[in-house]
Amino acid sequence: MRHRVVLLVILASLCLMFYSVHAGQVGQNKEQVARGKKLYLSYCASCHGVDASGNGPVASSLKQQPPDLRRIYAKAGKFLAEEVRKKIAGDLSSPAHGRKDMPVWGMILSREDINNLVKYLESIQKPFEAQPAD
Ligand code: HEC
Repeated sequence: MRHRVVLLVILASLCLMFYSVHAGQVGQNKEQVARGKKLYLSYCASCHGVDASGNGPVASSLKQQPPDLRRIYAKAGKFLAEEVRKKIAGDLSSPAHGRKDMPVWGMILSREDINNLVKYLESIQKPFEAQPAD
């Protein structure tokens, strides 16, 4: 009988632990998305557009049109967070974002900022089916 009580207590605390860790992660994610959105509006919307569709005010004067950042998932069938992070930081060669040896955002934004931006972008992805073929 005693053992049963102990077991129940252990089980209950495990559940609580799991719940709080999980809830914490969700909360953190929301916060990251919110911070990412702020960063996005200050640093990225001029080219990629406030709605991330690629229609920012600077877009028309660029040689290469900024891509619709809501379609990263739809184009690849998955959201490759690490590649997006590298793209923003300038680790991957991306002409409008500086070269590997001269990253633009990687020098201005912290790693945490960039992670928040990636979380924000992930949160605005359109579903795979809803996309017209291109
Ligand atoms: C000066 C205009 C400009 C600004 C500002 C800008 N971008 Fe871009 N971005 C581009 C262009 C043009 C491309 C496409 C060509 C390339 O990859 O260089 C691009 C590509 C990207 C890609 C790759 C998308 C894909 O489908 O492969 C990501 C991700 C991205 N930008 C995120 C951002 C984020 C986040 C910011 C803000 C920190 C930002 N951009 C600011 C012009 C800009």
